[in-house]
Amino acid sequence: KRIVILISGRGSNMQAIVERCGAEGWPANVVAVISNRADASGLAWATERGIATQALDHKAFADRAAFDAALAQCIDAYAPDLVVLAGFMRILTEGFVRHYDGRLLNIHPSLLPSFGGLHTHQRAIDMGCKVAGATVHFVTPALDHGPIVMQAVVPVWPDDDEDALAARVLRQEHVIYPRSVRWFVEGQLRIGADGRVTHQAGE
Ligand code: GRF
Repeated sequence: KRIVILISGRGSNMQAIVERCGAEGWPANVVAVISNRADASGLAWATERGIATQALDHKAFADRAAFDAALAQCIDAYAPDLVVLAGFMRILTEGFVRHYDGRLLNIHPSLLPSFGGLHTHQRAIDMGCKVAGATVHFVTPALDHGPIVMQAVVPVWPDDDEDALAARVLRQEHVIYPRSVRWFVEGQLRIGADGRVTHQAGE
């Protein structure tokens, strides 16, 4: 199976997936890492490991649809079985999402459906939440929505600030995202008609 990963920054989730894929011998390869920012530090990391990389500057395009069309063309050149959004900070058009229907994953740093959107950790702290976490989900046109594959829960401590909580959640992201991608490439995920994801462990 061929995996393409999209990043916008350090790409720590991308790194975790690349490392687990190699260490555990998944039936898959990360064939490309693509970013909307040429200065994304994850690009250099991927290049050092011999993974094809590409940067597509969204500011070079007239509008969102034009960028998404160019991005899809760039991705499809690698003929992916799975596209992974990992810290990819762009809202994608419906056309783009439908083109990758059923093979587009994202990780969001909250327990969806709570706290969609940005600044999830500060919002959880401000609301006095006692737990927080992250969600891996299939991407659908509705932002931060879509069939949930896996979630991780972490405690919120009374003296937590945004950075402390973000770091605790990120550690769990690096566990659940690689595991979710491995389940996908091993053909163990099913999206039911009711939009809920089930996992069938390998025969
Ligand atoms: C992570 O919190 C992830 O949940 C969100 O983007 C942040 C950065 O991730 N989607 P990464 O280090 O770039 O993978």
